[in-house]
Amino acid sequence: MADIILKTNHVIQSFPVAGGEFVALNDINIEIPKGKLTILKGRSGSGKTTLMNILGALDYPKSGEVILKDRDITKLAERERENIRKQNIGFVFQSVALIPMMNAYENVEFALRLSGFKGDMKKRAKECLEMVGLGKRIMHMPQELSGGEQQRVAIARAIAHKPKIIFADEPTAELDTNTGIQVVKIFKNLIEAEGITIVMTTHDTGLMEAAECLYELEDGKIVDREYD
Ligand SMILES: Nc1ncnc2c1ncn2[C@@H]1O[C@H](COP(=O)(O)OP(=O)(O)OP(=O)(O)O)[C@@H](O)[C@H]1O
Ligand SMILES: [Mg+2]
Repeated sequence: MADIILKTNHVIQSFPVAGGEFVALNDINIEIPKGKLTILKGRSGSGKTTLMNILGALDYPKSGEVILKDRDITKLAERERENIRKQNIGFVFQSVALIPMMNAYENVEFALRLSGFKGDMKKRAKECLEMVGLGKRIMHMPQELSGGEQQRVAIARAIAHKPKIIFADEPTAELDTNTGIQVVKIFKNLIEAEGITIVMTTHDTGLMEAAECLYELEDGKIVDREYD
C-alpha cells in the first residue's frame, strides 16, 4: 500500500436549510494515496464537490479532521490555509476560466507569479505546456484553442507551481469521451513525471478504470472503495 498523503477522520459537513440542517457529508473516512490517481464518483448531489472543497482547504467541515502530512488543516486559520493551498495544492475546475486576454503561456506564467514561485518562471511555464502537449500552441489565445486544449492549459496552470496534490472537479465534463481520456492520460503522465497526487471527480464510467483508488459517494456517505 502506498504512502497516504491526505486523510479524513469522521468528516461531517452540513448546511443550514429552511427548517433545519442538510447533512451533505456524513462521517467521511478516506485515505488518498500519494503519487496516484484517486477518483471520487457518485450521482449528482452525492457530495463530491463538497468533499473536494474540504480536502483542498477551500472550505472548513462542520466537524472532523483533514490530515495533510501529519497536520490537521481544519484547525488552522484561513491565512495559514491559504499558504498551504499556494504551496501544495492545484485546482482544475469543470469550466476552465482561463484569462481571455492572455495567451496560453501568459495564463500559466501569471498563475506562477501569483503562487510566489521561486524558480525560472518562463522555463517552467513552457515546460508545463509541453507536458500537456501544447508546446506548439503557447502563443494561442484561449478563443483560438479547442475545449480540450483550453482544459490542458488549465492543467498546465494548476501544476506549474509544483503542487503536491491536484484536485480536479469534473475536469472532463464538458469534453467528449475521447478528449476526456486524453486528459486522464495527461494526469497519469504527470503522476509519472512529477510524482504528483491527483484526486478527481467524474460521472464518466469510461474514465473510472484509470483510477488507482476509487471511492463512491452516495447521499454524503462512502459506500464503496476499490484499490488497485
Ligand atoms: N451551500 C449549500 N447550502 C445548502 N446545500 C448545499 C450547499 N452546497 C451543497 N449543498 C447540497 O449538498 C449536496 C451535495 O452537493 P455537491 O455539490 O457536493 O454534489 P456533487 O456530488 O458535487 O454533485 P454534482 O455531480 O452535481 O456536481 C447537494 O444536495 C447540494 O444541494
Ligand atoms: Mg459537483
